[in-house]
Amino acid sequence: MQAAAEAQALKTRVLAEIAAAPDEAGLEAVRVAVLGKTGSISLLMRGLGAMNPAERQVMGPALNALKDEVAASIAARREAFHEAALDARLASERLDLTLPAAPSRRGAVHPVSQVMEEAAAIFAEMGFVLAEGPDIETDFNNFTALNFPEGHPAREMHDTFFFPPGPDGTRKLLRTHTSPVQVRTMLAQEPPIRIIAMGRTYRCDSDQTHTPMFHQIEGLVIDRETHMGHLKGCLMDFCRAFFEVDDVRVRFRPHYFPFTEPSAEMDIGCDRSGGQIRIGEGEDWLEILGSGMVHANVLRNCGIDPEIWQGFAFGIGIDRLAMLKYGMSDLRDFFAGDPRWIRHYGFSPFFPASLASGLS
Ligand code: DAH
Repeated sequence: MQAAAEAQALKTRVLAEIAAAPDEAGLEAVRVAVLGKTGSISLLMRGLGAMNPAERQVMGPALNALKDEVAASIAARREAFHEAALDARLASERLDLTLPAAPSRRGAVHPVSQVMEEAAAIFAEMGFVLAEGPDIETDFNNFTALNFPEGHPAREMHDTFFFPPGPDGTRKLLRTHTSPVQVRTMLAQEPPIRIIAMGRTYRCDSDQTHTPMFHQIEGLVIDRETHMGHLKGCLMDFCRAFFEVDDVRVRFRPHYFPFTEPSAEMDIGCDRSGGQIRIGEGEDWLEILGSGMVHANVLRNCGIDPEIWQGFAFGIGIDRLAMLKYGMSDLRDFFAGDPRWIRHYGFSPFFPASLASGLS
Protein backbone atom coordinates (compact mmCIF):
# COMPACT_ATOMS: atom_id res chain seq x y z
CA MET A 1 0.00 0.00 0.00
CA GLN A 2 1.71 3.04 -1.25
CA ALA A 3 -0.48 5.52 0.72
CA ALA A 4 0.35 3.80 4.01
CA ALA A 5 4.09 3.94 3.33
CA GLU A 6 3.75 7.58 2.33
CA ALA A 7 1.88 8.35 5.55
CA GLN A 8 4.50 6.58 7.61
CA ALA A 9 7.31 8.51 5.94
CA LEU A 10 5.39 11.74 6.39
CA LYS A 11 4.92 11.01 10.07
CA THR A 12 8.61 10.41 10.65
CA ARG A 13 9.55 13.59 8.81
CA VAL A 14 6.93 15.78 10.48
CA LEU A 15 7.75 14.55 13.99
CA ALA A 16 11.40 15.31 13.29
CA GLU A 17 10.49 18.80 12.05
CA ILE A 18 8.40 19.44 15.14
CA ALA A 19 11.26 18.38 17.36
CA ALA A 20 13.66 20.59 15.41
CA ALA A 21 11.45 23.73 15.37
CA PRO A 22 13.66 26.42 16.97
CA ASP A 23 10.81 28.48 18.40
CA GLU A 24 7.04 28.98 18.43
CA ALA A 25 7.04 30.71 15.04
CA GLY A 26 8.94 27.79 13.49
CA LEU A 27 6.51 25.37 15.09
CA GLU A 28 3.57 27.29 13.69
CA ALA A 29 5.11 27.09 10.21
CA VAL A 30 5.37 23.29 10.56
CA ARG A 31 1.75 23.14 11.70
CA VAL A 32 0.51 25.13 8.72
CA ALA A 33 2.60 23.04 6.31
CA VAL A 34 1.13 19.83 7.67
CA LEU A 35 -2.33 20.53 9.05
CA GLY A 36 -3.22 23.78 7.23
CA LYS A 37 -5.78 23.79 4.42
CA THR A 38 -3.21 22.78 1.82
CA GLY A 39 -0.99 21.03 4.35
CA SER A 40 0.47 17.62 3.56
CA ILE A 41 -1.84 15.65 5.86
CA SER A 42 -4.86 17.61 4.70
CA LEU A 43 -3.97 16.76 1.09
CA LEU A 44 -3.56 13.09 1.98
CA MET A 45 -6.97 13.12 3.61
CA ARG A 46 -8.46 14.74 0.58
CA GLY A 47 -7.08 11.77 -1.40
CA LEU A 48 -9.30 9.39 0.61
CA GLY A 49 -12.20 10.18 -1.71
CA ALA A 50 -10.40 8.69 -4.68
CA MET A 51 -9.58 5.42 -2.87
CA ASN A 52 -11.54 2.22 -3.14
CA PRO A 53 -13.63 1.35 -0.05
CA ALA A 54 -11.26 -1.30 1.26
CA GLU A 55 -8.30 1.06 1.02
CA ARG A 56 -10.27 3.86 2.55
CA GLN A 57 -11.29 1.69 5.50
CA VAL A 58 -7.65 1.20 6.37
CA MET A 59 -6.33 4.63 5.41
CA GLY A 60 -9.16 6.71 6.95
CA PRO A 61 -8.48 5.76 10.58
CA ALA A 62 -4.74 5.68 9.93
CA LEU A 63 -4.70 9.24 8.59
CA ASN A 64 -6.93 10.43 11.43
CA ALA A 65 -4.60 8.84 13.97
CA LEU A 66 -1.63 10.44 12.19
CA LYS A 67 -3.34 13.82 12.27
CA ASP A 68 -4.12 13.47 16.00
CA GLU A 69 -0.62 12.32 16.79
CA VAL A 70 0.94 15.25 14.92
CA ALA A 71 -1.47 17.72 16.52
CA ALA A 72 -0.66 16.33 19.99
CA SER A 73 3.05 16.49 19.27
CA ILE A 74 2.73 20.14 18.17
CA ALA A 75 0.71 20.98 21.31
CA ALA A 76 3.29 19.31 23.52
CA ARG A 77 6.13 21.15 21.81
CA ARG A 78 4.26 24.46 22.14
CA GLU A 79 3.73 23.79 25.84
CA ALA A 80 7.45 23.10 26.18
CA PHE A 81 8.20 26.47 24.54
CA HIS A 82 5.84 28.20 27.00
CA GLU A 83 7.47 26.53 29.96
CA ALA A 84 10.92 27.41 28.75
CA ALA A 85 9.83 31.05 28.29
CA LEU A 86 8.40 31.13 31.80
CA ASP A 87 11.56 29.57 33.23
CA ALA A 88 13.68 32.15 31.43
CA ARG A 89 11.52 34.96 32.76
CA LEU A 90 11.58 33.63 36.32
CA ALA A 91 15.35 33.28 36.09
CA SER A 92 15.74 36.84 34.82
CA GLU A 93 13.47 38.26 37.52
CA ARG A 94 14.95 36.23 40.33
CA LEU A 95 15.80 38.21 43.46
CA ASP A 96 18.00 36.48 45.98
CA LEU A 97 16.67 37.65 49.31
CA THR A 98 19.26 35.56 51.10
CA LEU A 99 22.09 37.79 49.95
CA PRO A 100 23.89 39.36 52.91
CA ALA A 101 23.25 43.06 53.54
CA ALA A 102 25.85 45.38 52.08
CA PRO A 103 28.78 45.45 54.48
CA SER A 104 29.06 49.23 54.36
CA ARG A 105 26.62 50.78 56.84
CA ARG A 106 24.54 53.31 54.94
CA GLY A 107 21.70 54.26 57.28
CA ALA A 108 22.01 55.10 60.96
CA VAL A 109 19.51 55.49 63.77
CA HIS A 110 19.07 59.15 64.74
CA PRO A 111 20.11 59.91 68.34
CA VAL A 112 16.54 61.06 69.09
CA SER A 113 15.17 57.68 68.00
CA GLN A 114 17.94 55.96 69.94
CA VAL A 115 17.05 57.85 73.14
CA MET A 116 13.37 57.00 72.63
CA GLU A 117 14.28 53.32 72.32
CA GLU A 118 16.43 53.48 75.42
CA ALA A 119 13.75 55.28 77.45
CA ALA A 120 11.09 52.84 76.27
CA ALA A 121 13.26 49.90 77.34
CA ILE A 122 13.84 51.41 80.81
CA PHE A 123 10.24 52.44 81.49
CA ALA A 124 8.86 49.18 80.10
CA GLU A 125 10.97 47.38 82.68
CA MET A 126 9.23 49.47 85.37
CA GLY A 127 5.80 48.45 84.05
CA PHE A 128 4.91 51.53 82.00
CA VAL A 129 2.83 51.16 78.85
CA LEU A 130 3.30 53.32 75.74
CA ALA A 131 0.49 55.80 75.00
CA GLU A 132 0.08 58.06 71.98
CA GLY A 133 -1.50 61.30 70.94
CA PRO A 134 -1.53 63.46 67.81
CA ASP A 135 0.75 66.42 67.10
CA ILE A 136 -2.26 68.62 66.27
CA GLU A 137 -4.21 69.11 69.47
CA THR A 138 -7.21 70.92 70.81
CA ASP A 139 -6.80 73.88 73.11
CA PHE A 140 -8.72 71.88 75.72
CA ASN A 141 -6.28 68.94 75.77
CA ASN A 142 -3.14 71.06 75.55
CA PHE A 143 -4.17 73.76 78.04
CA THR A 144 -7.63 73.93 79.59
CA ALA A 145 -7.84 70.36 80.91
CA LEU A 146 -4.31 70.74 82.26
CA ASN A 147 -5.49 73.57 84.48
CA PHE A 148 -4.32 76.48 82.33
CA PRO A 149 -7.47 78.64 82.56
CA GLU A 150 -8.32 80.93 79.63
CA GLY A 151 -6.12 84.01 79.76
CA HIS A 152 -3.72 82.37 82.24
CA PRO A 153 -0.20 83.83 81.83
CA ALA A 154 1.35 80.34 81.73
CA ARG A 155 -0.24 79.91 78.30
CA GLU A 156 1.94 82.72 77.00
CA MET A 157 5.10 80.95 78.15
CA HIS A 158 4.50 78.23 75.60
CA ASP A 159 4.93 80.31 72.38
CA THR A 160 2.21 78.27 70.74
CA PHE A 161 1.72 77.72 67.01
CA PHE A 162 -2.04 78.12 66.50
CA PHE A 163 -4.12 77.15 63.47
CA PRO A 164 -6.75 79.56 62.14
CA PRO A 165 -10.07 79.25 64.03
CA GLY A 166 -12.45 76.50 62.88
CA PRO A 167 -16.19 76.91 62.22
CA ASP A 168 -16.90 76.66 65.97
CA GLY A 169 -14.43 79.50 66.67
CA THR A 170 -11.87 77.31 68.50
CA ARG A 171 -8.29 77.11 67.32
CA LYS A 172 -6.36 73.85 66.99
CA LEU A 173 -2.66 74.06 67.80
CA LEU A 174 0.60 72.15 67.49
CA ARG A 175 0.97 70.59 70.92
CA THR A 176 3.47 72.53 73.02
CA HIS A 177 4.21 69.53 75.22
CA THR A 178 3.32 65.84 75.46
CA SER A 179 1.16 66.48 78.53
CA PRO A 180 -2.11 66.39 76.50
CA VAL A 181 -1.51 62.63 76.17
CA GLN A 182 -2.13 62.51 79.94
CA VAL A 183 -5.55 64.02 79.33
CA ARG A 184 -6.34 61.67 76.45
CA THR A 185 -5.30 58.65 78.51
CA MET A 186 -7.29 59.61 81.60
CA LEU A 187 -10.38 60.36 79.52
CA ALA A 188 -10.08 57.00 77.76
CA GLN A 189 -9.23 54.59 80.54
CA GLU A 190 -9.92 53.91 84.19
CA PRO A 191 -7.13 54.15 86.76
CA PRO A 192 -4.78 52.64 87.76
CA ILE A 193 -2.70 54.15 84.95
CA ARG A 194 1.00 53.90 84.26
CA ILE A 195 1.96 55.28 80.86
CA ILE A 196 4.71 57.04 79.02
CA ALA A 197 4.17 58.96 75.78
CA MET A 198 6.93 60.14 73.49
CA GLY A 199 6.89 62.36 70.48
CA ARG A 200 7.18 65.72 68.81
CA THR A 201 6.30 68.99 70.46
CA TYR A 202 6.38 72.51 69.04
CA ARG A 203 7.12 76.01 70.24
CA CYS A 204 8.02 79.15 68.35
CA ASP A 205 11.63 79.31 69.52
CA SER A 206 15.07 78.79 67.96
CA ASP A 207 18.63 79.04 69.31
CA GLN A 208 21.46 76.70 70.30
CA THR A 209 19.32 74.77 72.78
CA HIS A 210 15.84 75.39 71.32
CA THR A 211 14.31 74.30 68.02
CA PRO A 212 10.71 74.99 66.91
CA MET A 213 10.13 71.23 66.91
CA PHE A 214 11.59 69.14 69.72
CA HIS A 215 10.78 65.92 71.55
CA GLN A 216 9.49 64.99 74.98
CA ILE A 217 8.79 61.94 77.08
CA GLU A 218 5.70 62.25 79.22
CA GLY A 219 5.05 59.99 82.17
CA LEU A 220 1.85 59.54 84.16
CA VAL A 221 1.11 57.27 87.10
CA ILE A 222 -2.33 57.29 88.73
CA ASP A 223 -3.05 54.95 91.61
CA ARG A 224 -4.58 54.91 95.07
CA GLU A 225 -1.52 55.58 97.19
CA THR A 226 1.03 57.20 94.95
CA HIS A 227 3.22 59.85 96.55
CA MET A 228 6.22 62.09 95.91
CA GLY A 229 8.60 59.34 97.10
CA HIS A 230 7.48 57.12 94.21
CA LEU A 231 8.09 59.99 91.80
CA LYS A 232 11.62 60.56 93.09
CA GLY A 233 12.48 56.87 93.08
CA CYS A 234 11.12 56.34 89.60
CA LEU A 235 13.03 59.29 88.09
CA MET A 236 16.27 58.54 89.91
CA ASP A 237 16.13 54.93 88.70
CA PHE A 238 15.49 56.20 85.19
CA CYS A 239 18.51 58.53 85.28
CA ARG A 240 20.85 55.84 86.58
CA ALA A 241 19.74 53.40 83.92
CA PHE A 242 19.72 55.97 81.12
CA PHE A 243 23.11 57.55 81.83
CA GLU A 244 24.54 54.14 82.72
CA VAL A 245 26.08 55.59 85.89
CA ASP A 246 25.37 53.90 89.25
CA ASP A 247 25.57 56.94 91.50
CA VAL A 248 23.99 59.80 89.61
CA ARG A 249 23.43 62.70 91.99
CA VAL A 250 20.04 64.35 91.58
CA ARG A 251 18.20 67.14 93.33
CA PHE A 252 14.60 68.30 93.21
CA ARG A 253 13.86 72.03 93.19
CA PRO A 254 10.38 73.44 93.83
CA HIS A 255 8.85 74.82 90.64
CA TYR A 256 5.50 75.81 89.17
CA PHE A 257 3.43 73.96 86.59
CA PRO A 258 -0.34 74.55 86.39
CA PHE A 259 -1.02 70.81 86.15
CA THR A 260 0.97 69.59 89.16
CA GLU A 261 0.95 70.48 92.85
CA PRO A 262 3.50 70.33 94.30
CA SER A 263 5.78 70.65 91.27
CA ALA A 264 9.50 70.10 91.04
CA GLU A 265 12.27 70.31 88.51
CA MET A 266 14.95 67.71 88.72
CA ASP A 267 18.63 68.55 88.26
CA ILE A 268 21.35 66.07 87.64
CA GLY A 269 24.86 66.39 89.09
CA CYS A 270 27.58 66.96 86.54
CA ASP A 271 30.95 68.46 85.82
CA ARG A 272 31.17 71.26 83.27
CA SER A 273 34.87 72.02 83.35
CA GLY A 274 36.75 72.05 80.06
CA GLY A 275 33.70 72.95 77.96
CA GLN A 276 32.31 69.43 78.29
CA ILE A 277 29.52 68.05 80.42
CA ARG A 278 30.27 64.87 82.35
CA ILE A 279 27.36 63.20 84.14
CA GLY A 280 28.01 61.62 87.51
CA GLU A 281 31.05 63.77 88.33
CA GLY A 282 31.72 67.27 89.64
CA GLU A 283 29.78 69.87 91.58
CA ASP A 284 27.54 71.42 88.92
CA TRP A 285 23.82 70.85 88.26
CA LEU A 286 21.84 70.60 85.07
CA GLU A 287 18.06 70.70 84.80
CA ILE A 288 16.62 67.79 82.83
CA LEU A 289 12.95 67.41 83.63
CA GLY A 290 9.78 68.81 85.16
CA SER A 291 7.54 66.76 87.41
CA GLY A 292 5.00 66.83 90.20
CA MET A 293 1.90 65.36 91.78
CA VAL A 294 -1.04 65.56 89.37
CA HIS A 295 -3.22 68.55 90.29
CA ALA A 296 -6.68 67.67 91.62
CA ASN A 297 -8.23 69.98 88.99
CA VAL A 298 -6.61 67.95 86.21
CA LEU A 299 -8.00 64.72 87.65
CA ARG A 300 -11.46 66.29 87.92
CA ASN A 301 -11.26 67.67 84.36
CA CYS A 302 -10.59 64.12 83.20
CA GLY A 303 -13.41 62.53 85.20
CA ILE A 304 -11.23 61.02 87.93
CA ASP A 305 -12.13 61.44 91.61
CA PRO A 306 -9.16 63.07 93.42
CA GLU A 307 -10.46 61.79 96.75
CA ILE A 308 -9.72 58.24 95.60
CA TRP A 309 -6.97 58.56 93.02
CA GLN A 310 -3.75 60.51 92.92
CA GLY A 311 -0.54 60.27 91.01
CA PHE A 312 2.57 61.83 89.62
CA ALA A 313 3.64 63.02 86.21
CA PHE A 314 6.84 64.10 84.56
CA GLY A 315 8.05 65.59 81.30
CA ILE A 316 11.57 65.04 79.99
CA GLY A 317 13.25 66.74 77.04
CA ILE A 318 14.46 63.94 74.78
CA ASP A 319 16.78 66.07 72.67
CA ARG A 320 18.42 67.40 75.77
CA LEU A 321 18.96 63.87 77.10
CA ALA A 322 20.60 62.98 73.79
CA MET A 323 22.88 66.04 73.92
CA LEU A 324 23.92 65.20 77.46
CA LYS A 325 24.53 61.52 76.92
CA TYR A 326 26.12 61.69 73.49
CA GLY A 327 27.84 65.07 73.63
CA MET A 328 26.36 67.19 70.85
CA SER A 329 26.53 70.90 71.54
CA ASP A 330 23.98 72.42 69.14
CA LEU A 331 20.41 71.21 69.03
CA ARG A 332 19.79 72.74 65.60
CA ASP A 333 22.18 70.21 64.04
CA PHE A 334 19.76 67.44 65.06
CA PHE A 335 17.30 68.52 62.40
CA ALA A 336 19.60 69.94 59.70
CA GLY A 337 19.57 66.69 57.73
CA ASP A 338 23.35 66.63 57.21
CA PRO A 339 24.44 63.04 56.44
CA ARG A 340 27.90 63.67 57.93
CA TRP A 341 26.30 64.50 61.26
CA ILE A 342 24.13 61.40 61.29
CA ARG A 343 27.09 59.24 60.22
CA HIS A 344 29.05 60.59 63.17
CA TYR A 345 26.38 60.59 65.86
CA GLY A 346 23.99 57.90 64.54
CA PHE A 347 23.58 54.37 65.88
CA SER A 348 23.65 50.98 64.23
CA PRO A 349 20.18 49.73 63.33
CA PHE A 350 21.33 46.20 64.13
CA PHE A 351 21.67 46.62 67.90
CA PRO A 352 18.37 47.73 69.44
CA ALA A 353 18.56 49.24 72.93
CA SER A 354 17.91 46.70 75.64
CA LEU A 355 18.59 46.60 79.36
CA ALA A 356 19.99 43.09 79.07
CA SER A 357 22.50 43.67 76.29
CA GLY A 358 23.32 47.33 76.96
CA LEU A 359 21.48 50.52 76.09
CA SER A 360 23.88 52.18 73.68
N1 DAH B 1 4.79 69.83 80.13
C1 DAH B 1 5.93 70.47 80.78
C2 DAH B 1 6.68 71.30 79.78
O1 DAH B 1 6.69 71.00 78.63
C3 DAH B 1 6.82 69.42 81.37
C4 DAH B 1 6.19 68.73 82.51
C5 DAH B 1 6.34 69.20 83.79
C6 DAH B 1 5.38 67.60 82.31
C7 DAH B 1 5.74 68.59 84.86
C8 DAH B 1 4.78 66.98 83.37
C9 DAH B 1 4.98 67.49 84.66
O2 DAH B 1 4.01 65.91 83.23
O3 DAH B 1 4.39 66.87 85.69
O4 DAH B 1 7.30 72.24 80.15
